[in-house]
Amino acid sequence: MRRLALIGNWKMYTTPSSARFLAEDILNRLNGVKEADIVVCPPSTSLVSVADIVNGSDIVLGAQNVHWEREGAFTGEISIDALVEIGCRYVIVGHSERRHIFGESDEVVAKRLRRALESGLKGILCVGEKEDERQRGETEKVISRQMDTALEGLKRTELIVAYEPVWAIGTGRRAEIRDVEAVHRFIRKRLSERFGKDASGNPVIYGGSVMPDDMAELAACEEVDGALVGGASLSAESFASIVTRAIERRIA
Ligand code: 13P
Repeated sequence: MRRLALIGNWKMYTTPSSARFLAEDILNRLNGVKEADIVVCPPSTSLVSVADIVNGSDIVLGAQNVHWEREGAFTGEISIDALVEIGCRYVIVGHSERRHIFGESDEVVAKRLRRALESGLKGILCVGEKEDERQRGETEKVISRQMDTALEGLKRTELIVAYEPVWAIGTGRRAEIRDVEAVHRFIRKRLSERFGKDASGNPVIYGGSVMPDDMAELAACEEVDGALVGGASLSAESFASIVTRAIERRIA
């Protein structure tokens, strides 16, 4: 069975001091938990203060973005060397907010992912359809396009794929479990077409309005290897509850 991954995406919430406080609260509740990979991804301005708290613990640090060049005249971007020095081990790429608010193309996502993987970070590649695309029956077509471009030319890598249907993000409308299961199975098929049997170890996780009460049902589904959590990861209590319920369900 693949290892569970529970990842908190704090988006553009927290300042360095409030992030520190949240990280301490999460650490107090979850340090020592070994049954899952637990990752927090603060905004870049809070990475250093969170690193001070979590580095060396069972809570792992992730970033929300990385540029594909090592350094240069790229105002507002984030360099891989900075992330490595701070102690980040994961980086999110292709989040729908990057794709749809900031206009990031599949090609840009692919370049960011390649840089992260080449530098030894684990990539969290987000894919997912918009509501109108789902209604037109284009979910698999969209996900194929996003995955094909992002994974082009890659060897088997340390990669998590997060299925985040755009219409489920921040709306309180979590996708139905049968739809999550079907899309995850499709993602797994695409991963094995590209990487062969090596892909069996790559987690496929779900994101979009995940709350503690959803986690048992999600984790009970064999296709779901964890969750990428937005809003509910901003409370240590609810994030810890998501982690605990996922683990309990997997072990049961
Ligand atoms: P919510 O859990 O707030 O819906 O956000 C999901 C998400 O976008 C995580 O990356």
